[in-house]
Amino acid sequence: MTALREHAALTSAGPRVAFLDVGAATREIRSELGEALARVMASGWYVLGPEVEAFEAEWAAFVGTRGCVGVGNGLDALTLALRAMGVGPGDEVIVPGHTFVATWLAVTAAGARPVPVDVDPATANMDPQNLEAAITPRTKVVVPVHLYGRLARIDDIVAIARRHGLRVLEDAAQAHGARIGGRRAGSLADAAAWSFYPAKNLGAIGDAGAVTSDDTELVDRVRLLRNYGSPRRYEHEIAGVNSRLDEIQAAVLRTKLPHLDEWNSRRLRVAQTYLRELAGLGLELPAPAPAGEHVWHVFAARTDRRDAVRRVLAAAGIETLIHYPTPPHLQPGYAGLGIPAGTLPVSEAISREALSLPIGPHLTAEDVARVVVAVAAAGTR
Ligand SMILES: Cc1ncc(COP(=O)(O)O)c(C=O)c1O
Repeated sequence: MTALREHAALTSAGPRVAFLDVGAATREIRSELGEALARVMASGWYVLGPEVEAFEAEWAAFVGTRGCVGVGNGLDALTLALRAMGVGPGDEVIVPGHTFVATWLAVTAAGARPVPVDVDPATANMDPQNLEAAITPRTKVVVPVHLYGRLARIDDIVAIARRHGLRVLEDAAQAHGARIGGRRAGSLADAAAWSFYPAKNLGAIGDAGAVTSDDTELVDRVRLLRNYGSPRRYEHEIAGVNSRLDEIQAAVLRTKLPHLDEWNSRRLRVAQTYLRELAGLGLELPAPAPAGEHVWHVFAARTDRRDAVRRVLAAAGIETLIHYPTPPHLQPGYAGLGIPAGTLPVSEAISREALSLPIGPHLTAEDVARVVVAVAAAGTR
């Protein structure tokens, strides 16, 4: 069969393969979620109440930290954690050159300057080898990202940071449940910021975020910041913000949390199938990771024929995304930093070549097979 006919056969053979079906998790546990929503509606308490308190305790227990504070979203979790660490104007914060822009935006929102280090081409995560050269007397915090769900080399990063008296904030927004040995993402440095945006491995049905840490002073500071800097009604110790977690989101997250490990193992099975079946078909596949260290939020391959491969997959009804097409330092919003193209060659190459295939706990074996056949077809063109 010619590649073209094969594409036609695929297109007509079944429905499109969505990049991620966010509603599938909701459908799987619909009755549990219904009970949780009914409980909140009946309670008459909708923001920062018993569901939020219970979720904070349950998420801290899952992650393995002494404290957790729920906030409105992942960007606020990062920003408020940085502010609670004392980051402000005149400070520098080290970030990966390749990440979702929110990692950088949090530094900017805290009034500080993001200083990028290039990433490791094998993992797309912050390369500890590049860290030391980026440290200056103004550096306050290092923010490694567990990008795509794969743990950064956090112990090496923390060791370097400690030598220089710096704190480390994990951006764990893509790594719910990842673990190394018995330790979970979010408990591996001084503090961690979480997003529970609906598409995350643990996702709400709206915006939500959290900060976890063993440092209870830091957690209390974020607790103050998230609610107008107010320890008691109409008393404002610091100039805070409104970034409260609502009861509906907390109740949804509590209901989904017991399913997280199982959903992550289904993601792993999809990733293992891709790694096995797509070998030698023209894509540069993500490096395998030791058990548990990658929760496969995103399956990001690389190819220098990205546009052509995407076109073939799209014609076969397969949705792909690019994480991320432009690195933060080349975004117009960061032109003011004056970091020219060519400064972060690995991050820039990944942005040119990254191609993410559908992955998620609810992708069927047929969907995965369709992706494999379409990638094979794309390789023959
Ligand atoms: C790595 C990373 N950091 C931060 C965020 C920000 O989270 P949110 O969208 O909840 O603000 C996200 C997700 O969107 C992310 O992927």
